[in-house]
Amino acid sequence: MKKIDISVIPGDGIGKEVMPEALKVLETVAEVHGGLSFSFKHYPWSCDYYIEHNKMMPEDGLDQLKESDAVFLSAVGDPNLVPDHISLWGLLVKIRREFEQVINIRPAKQMKGIQSPLVHPNDFDLIVVRENSEGEYSEVGGRIHRGEDEVAIQNAVFTRKGVERAVEYGFQLAQNRRGHVTSATKSNGIVHSMPFWDSVFESVAEKYPDVKTASNHIDALASFFVTRPQEFDVIVASNLFGDILTDVGAAIMGSIGIAPAANININGKYPSMFEPVHGSAPDIYGKGIANPIGQIWTGKMMLDHFGEHELGNTLLQVIEEVLQDGIKTPDIGGTSSTTEVSDAIVTRLKTLK
Ligand code: NAD
Ligand code: IPM
Ligand code: MN
Repeated sequence: MKKIDISVIPGDGIGKEVMPEALKVLETVAEVHGGLSFSFKHYPWSCDYYIEHNKMMPEDGLDQLKESDAVFLSAVGDPNLVPDHISLWGLLVKIRREFEQVINIRPAKQMKGIQSPLVHPNDFDLIVVRENSEGEYSEVGGRIHRGEDEVAIQNAVFTRKGVERAVEYGFQLAQNRRGHVTSATKSNGIVHSMPFWDSVFESVAEKYPDVKTASNHIDALASFFVTRPQEFDVIVASNLFGDILTDVGAAIMGSIGIAPAANININGKYPSMFEPVHGSAPDIYGKGIANPIGQIWTGKMMLDHFGEHELGNTLLQVIEEVLQDGIKTPDIGGTSSTTEVSDAIVTRLKTLK
């Protein structure tokens, strides 16, 4: 029996609604497999936890998580309770950084059973590799000078090592896909770090002569995601560019509520963290209508991570079958609840046993 230990952090808002549903689905997946079992350890770290303890997680929180094979997180942030910069730096971003999860992979594809807002989605199937540890999200120099001449300064830090490993990851991924990598850039020199990004991209590309490349300015690229997403295979992007681009990727699929993501630790020293693209959605929290598919598909990425590709693909197929049956939450035009969607997925999975 293959046993996988998972740290579970539902976090805030709809995270608390979609996480139990995704766990239910993973339990069923394990039953269908027969030779796989998950052990879930639950952590209540969230903005509610902060109100009680004045911190987002205990001092030894990372040591506790370190023991597991993976972290399964939903969403962090409840701006009505705790300012975002405190909750995010104290939990989500802290784990990404301390566990050296330097790559964030975020697929987007035309899903069966969901109407893409695009008139011609043309079966697009792309994956954004987002640099996850530096760039515009650097901790260096970020400060606000108050006073009459108020000014905010944020330094974007790009290291050769950081850019190289993200770009390499993209090329390797492309070799197992359709062999094409696009660099998201702003190489007209207005953003000073981007010509550096370009030069690293070009030097990595030389090592992969079998992979075709393209380079697009981020503004144009965001528009191409809308006008011709089918032309993209792998896109490598800096931290902020990747963040924005993947919300566009989610939107062309039909909803941010279905978009999955994985924060990957590539040196094997720490667990990776699986966490959907969406946030805690305070506007719909408590209504029972949050789309659980983003969290469930993120679970599929976790299965892939542990080598269970066949099972992962079966899960994605079952998700699409349920969508084709019209069992959908309101964000994608349906009338079903969060639980109705996950129950339908569980029921279909059980028929495969
Ligand atoms: P959001 O993703 O929470 O919500 C954006 C919009 O998408 C909202 O209208 C919401 O209702 C909708 N939406 C999101 N997930 C959905 C789902 N599963 N089903 C149906 N609709 C869904 O982004 P936001 O409003 O910018 O941020 C809210 C909070 O979440 C903030 O505190 C923010 O910092 C945090 N956040 C956290 C993460 C994370 O933990 N990974 C990601 C993004 C935002
Ligand atoms: C995401 C989120 C986070 C990010 C925030 C909440 C820090 O938007 O995971 O896409 O910007 O990385
Ligand atoms: Mn985001």
